[in-house]
Amino acid sequence: MAVIELDEVTSTNDYIKRRCGELPDGSVVCARIQTAGRGRHGHGWAADEGMLPLSILLKDPPERENLTARAGLAVCDAVESLCAVNAMIKWPNDIIVNSRKICGILCESTVVKGQVNVIVGIGVNVSQSAEFFENAGLPHAASLLMLTGNAPARKTLAEEIARRVTTRAAVPFSECYEEYARRLINIGKQVKLIFADGERIAKAVGVSGNGYLICRADGREFEVSAGEVSVRGMDGYL
Ligand code: BTN
Repeated sequence: MAVIELDEVTSTNDYIKRRCGELPDGSVVCARIQTAGRGRHGHGWAADEGMLPLSILLKDPPERENLTARAGLAVCDAVESLCAVNAMIKWPNDIIVNSRKICGILCESTVVKGQVNVIVGIGVNVSQSAEFFENAGLPHAASLLMLTGNAPARKTLAEEIARRVTTRAAVPFSECYEEYARRLINIGKQVKLIFADGERIAKAVGVSGNGYLICRADGREFEVSAGEVSVRGMDGYL
């Protein structure tokens, strides 16, 4: 798998988005440093050179729903295969090692000549220092170097993740739904659901076949989608 390695880029997602027409399906782009990375819900994504920004282009994937969930599983598998860690997923798609966020995923799509292109953007905290996260106001995040004492080689990690994302994207979510449910760290916990217009405390009790978080509050079950809500633990992040 050929990985396009850039030196500096605003956002690897934007790099692919601008070149969707010319880049082939499965293209993988990473960079030494990303200067204007974006996170979910319109947030920024702070980075120094210790973060690995990576984007994968999927042209007209067979099932667009829940690609972020499948990418999350791919990242867990890749990180576990290269580092001696157990990885979990904070619904919908933060990757957690030792209760700290080591990776975020942002899937975006564009339509070119009627074809839907999905860009799977993945930011892995590889080797930032504790000071970086302190200064960025991200106490719940950590790098693999901080957690294990070793940072995997960036190119190897990029290749391993991209290979697994591409493989996972070809298989429907229904086939990995149970595996995804087992990886979710929030299940069984009280959570704070943050909607655009307010908050609600509930217990996360499961995940539905379409990737929604199933919650229970006031004796009733309901489902929330990743687009409408952010989830926090009762003591902060987890
Ligand atoms: C999140 O947890 O909010 C998602 C963060 C996603 C960051 C990655 S870094 C590579 C790609 N390029 C971007 O601008 N964002 C994603």
